[in-house]
Amino acid sequence: MISSLRKTRIIATLGPVSETPERLREMMQAGVNIFRLNMSHANHDSVRNLVPTIRGIAEELGLIIGILMDTQGPAVRTGDLPIKFELKVGDILEFTVRGAKSQEVYSVNVNYDGLIDDISKGDVMLVDNGVLHLKVLNKENNRIRCEVLTPGPLGSRRHINLPGVRVNLPPLTEKDIADVALGCELGVDFIALSFCREASDIHEMQRVIATHHGTARVIAKIEDQCAVKCIEEIIEATDAVMIARGDLGIECPMEELPIIQRRIMKKAIQLGRPVIVATHLLESMIENPVPTRAEITDVANAVFEQADAIMLSGETTVGKYPLECIRVMDRVARRIERSGYAPYAKQTVLENDQEKTTRAGVSLANSLPHSGLIVFTSHGVMADYASQLRPQTAPVFAITSQAEVARRLILNWGTHPIVTSKRKGMEQILSEVEEILLKNSLMEKGDSLVILSDLEEGEKNVDSIELRKI
Ligand code: PGA
Ligand code: MN
Repeated sequence: MISSLRKTRIIATLGPVSETPERLREMMQAGVNIFRLNMSHANHDSVRNLVPTIRGIAEELGLIIGILMDTQGPAVRTGDLPIKFELKVGDILEFTVRGAKSQEVYSVNVNYDGLIDDISKGDVMLVDNGVLHLKVLNKENNRIRCEVLTPGPLGSRRHINLPGVRVNLPPLTEKDIADVALGCELGVDFIALSFCREASDIHEMQRVIATHHGTARVIAKIEDQCAVKCIEEIIEATDAVMIARGDLGIECPMEELPIIQRRIMKKAIQLGRPVIVATHLLESMIENPVPTRAEITDVANAVFEQADAIMLSGETTVGKYPLECIRVMDRVARRIERSGYAPYAKQTVLENDQEKTTRAGVSLANSLPHSGLIVFTSHGVMADYASQLRPQTAPVFAITSQAEVARRLILNWGTHPIVTSKRKGMEQILSEVEEILLKNSLMEKGDSLVILSDLEEGEKNVDSIELRKI
């Protein structure tokens, strides 16, 4: 069953309120396409449990559901605290590195030793999503003495943002490598690299995945100024990108955020890399059953710009209304998809003959009122091209014999993968596909089908376009 012809994909992060089999099922039925496992919080036992549970329910429902493992990456974090600190304005807090001891009431160690060298007297440090501000008074003997500027609690393992500072941690920490190994063992479809800083970080992730015989596609999370500076080489190197606005909005001046979002969106679509807009899309729905008008507009903007996917984080991990969030995204996306779009796909760079053949097929579909594109694709490449060109109305039905390829194609804008048996001939598959389309009211009798294929014939790949009616 294909549940919808919504073009924008929905990613939901899993957490305490969403991990039961019943809830997973409801979320899939409400329209989630990909589940995200956040390795900053999830432990290996729960991941080992969740992955087969998700696969089982998806199979039962006849849905293609992707799984994305999101690594913690080289994040600077505070260490464990026996109890939460309740910090007041003017309090003194010391950050320690290299095992230094502090005499202060409030002190905590940090996982990044170089912090003491990177930071200077007078700098402001941002902790816990930028909520807690601390001013550096001085630093000596591996202790950074700070004054609290904004009040609030400080718990264990909180994230520290250092805007503009290039952190000297490796692209993948030991924890990340262990997590990636698990992801490869379980066959997750995507692995996200947090705090990706340059193209070589992606190459390192690809190398680690290959070492563990994984097939996961790499998603580069753009979340600091380093990544923004190297954005072109990162997009070239990666399989997909995530605009991680949570950290990006702290690491960069906030008024730059919409400009950076638009730049990444344009570049990713031009180069044919799926792009995900993440964080705070429906933040107020963590507490409330309805979104703010500003949030609806933010979701609409991402859909208008033709993002491949929009992502839920806290809304579906700890929020009170996880299903309502998915329904709101589904509803807004469907409506906005019918209302027009930004012309970014017009500047797509076509490099090879197969891309040009695909464009001819997409133009043909665009010229026909009720049409769909059917793409026969072994590795998903031609289906990638079709999605990248953002056909005006025609959905892309990607036909593949490999479930793995189908699951990674589910991230692509406007793409509906269908898995068929390898042994059947093209005509037989086509009549089965037509049946599926009619049965699910996805297309009607008399509609046009533009059929693209890049199937191997003997030694070579033959690209072809065919037009027929259902
Ligand atoms: P995170 O990444 O949720 O892992 O922090 C997303 C973001 O920073 O927006
Ligand atoms: Mn982040």
